[in-house]
Amino acid sequence: MIHARLTIDPHFTVGPVNRRLFGSFVEHLGRCVYDGIYEPGHPSADADGFRTDVIELVRELGVTAVRYPGGNFVSGYKWEDGVGPREQRPRRLDLAWHSTETNEIGLDEFATWLGKVGAEMMYAVNLGTRGVAEALDVLEYANIRSGTALSDNRIDNGHTEPHSIRLWCLGNEMDGPWQLGHSTAEDYARLASQTAAAMRQLDPSLELVVCGSSGAQMPTFGEWERIVLEQTYDDVDFISCHAYYEPKDDDYASFLASAVDMDRFIEAVTATADHVKALRRSDKTINISFDEWNVWYQTRFNEVDKITDPDSWPVAPRLLEDSYSVMDAVVFGNLLISLLRHSDRVTSASLAQLVNVIAPIMTEPGGAAWRQTTFFPFSIASRLARGVALELKLDAPTHDTAAYGAVPTIDAVATYDAETGTTAAFIVNRSLSEEASFEIDASALGDVEVTSAVSLYDDDLHAANTLSEPDRVRPRENTSARRDGNTISVTLPAVSWTVLTLG
Ligand code: AHR
Repeated sequence: MIHARLTIDPHFTVGPVNRRLFGSFVEHLGRCVYDGIYEPGHPSADADGFRTDVIELVRELGVTAVRYPGGNFVSGYKWEDGVGPREQRPRRLDLAWHSTETNEIGLDEFATWLGKVGAEMMYAVNLGTRGVAEALDVLEYANIRSGTALSDNRIDNGHTEPHSIRLWCLGNEMDGPWQLGHSTAEDYARLASQTAAAMRQLDPSLELVVCGSSGAQMPTFGEWERIVLEQTYDDVDFISCHAYYEPKDDDYASFLASAVDMDRFIEAVTATADHVKALRRSDKTINISFDEWNVWYQTRFNEVDKITDPDSWPVAPRLLEDSYSVMDAVVFGNLLISLLRHSDRVTSASLAQLVNVIAPIMTEPGGAAWRQTTFFPFSIASRLARGVALELKLDAPTHDTAAYGAVPTIDAVATYDAETGTTAAFIVNRSLSEEASFEIDASALGDVEVTSAVSLYDDDLHAANTLSEPDRVRPRENTSARRDGNTISVTLPAVSWTVLTLG
C-alpha cells in the first residue's frame, strides 16, 4: 500500500483564490450555443429561448466568469452580425469549424444569459481578421452608457444598461497556424499593444489578456511569450495559457500525471513574465489567465475535417462531443489542483468548454441535460476552494512515467477560508493499481473535525455518464476518513480524486 503524509499550516499561504479561477468558456462551436444553452423549442426554454435545465446545471457547477464568443471562431467573427433585429442578421460561413453561423445569439443575448446564470463576461475581440477599430467599436457598444452612435444602437436593441465588461482577450491563439490571421510574435505583439492602448484610452481600468502560446508543445513556446510581453508589458494585465490533455497510446500512467505538465507550463510562463519584468525594471506583475484547459480527445476524432463542402456547412453540428470517464475526471480534478496551487499567479481560468463541446454539461435536443464525470470536481472545488491556497509539505512516493519521468503518486492542494474557519484538502491518487493510506498532520489547525469526505472513483476506469445512464458516476462519501488526535487519515482508492473538509 502507498503511504503519503501532508502537513497543513494555515499561516503559510500561496495567495488568495480568485473566484475567476472557476471560469468557463462558451464558443460558437458545434452545439455549445445552439442546441446547448439556446434551444427555443425545448420544453424547458424560457421566454428568451434559453434552456432553464441548462441554466440550473451551470449554476450548480459554480461558474463565475465565461469567455465568449471564441476560440478559433472569433478570428473570423464580425460582432455586429450578432446584434440588432434577429430577422436581419446575416448567415455566415464559420471557417474555423466548417459550420454555418446563424447569428441568432450575439453579445446582447449572451449578456442576458449570463445574468441568468450569475456569471461575469470575458469577451474576446477578433485580432485575426480585424483590428483596433473593430475592438473599439465593440467596446463602445458594450460599455458606454449612452449618447454615442454604438451605445445608442445597443439601447435601441433593447439593452438600456451597458454590459460593463471588465475582462477582455486580445484575440485567440494567434501563434497557431490553424488560426485565421495567424501571425508572428512580433506582428501580433504590435497589433495587441496598439489595440490595448486604444481600448485603455477609452477606459484605463479594463483588464486585458494578451495571447500566450496555444500550448507548451508549440515550437515558438517561450520565445512567443518573451517577445509578446516585451512589447505589451505596460498595456496588459494577463498572458494566456491553453492546455488540453488526453491519453496517448493507452499510456494511462502519463495521462494521470498530466498536472505535472500543467505545473511546468505555468511555472515557465511565470518565469518568462518575470524575466521581462526584470528587463524593464518594472513594478508591475503580469498574471496568467489559463483561459482554455481540459481533457480533450483531439487525436481520436477529426469530425471538422469531414465537413468539406462550404455550400452545405451545417448549423450547430455535433462536434467535439467527448464523453468523459472516471479516469478523465481524476485527471481533470488534478488539473484544478495545479491551478489552485498557483493561485498567486493564475488569477483567471476558463474550463473549455461549458455545454456539449468538450463539456461538463451535455444536452439532447428536446430532451435531457446531464452532468459528465468532470462536472463533479469542478462544482465541488468551486464551492469549497475558498479563501487562500496554502503552501503544503507533502511527503509522497514517486513512480515512473514515460512522458514526465518520476512523478509523485499522490498530489494535493489545500485552501483555508478564514471567514468560516474551513480547510479544504483536494487530493489525487495517481496509482493505477494501489490504494493509498493518506495522513494529514493538522496540529496547526487547532481542534478540527472531518466535516465531509468525498471521493470520485470507480472499479471501471472508463465508466461515464450518458443519455441512457446519466447518473452512472457520482462522487461518493469516503467513510474511511477519521481523526485521531491531530492526525486525519483517509484511504484513497486507486485512480481517485478526493476532497476533505476540516472545520
Ligand atoms: O476549445 C476548442 C478550441 O481549442 C478553441 O476554439 C481554440 O482556441 C483551441 O484551439
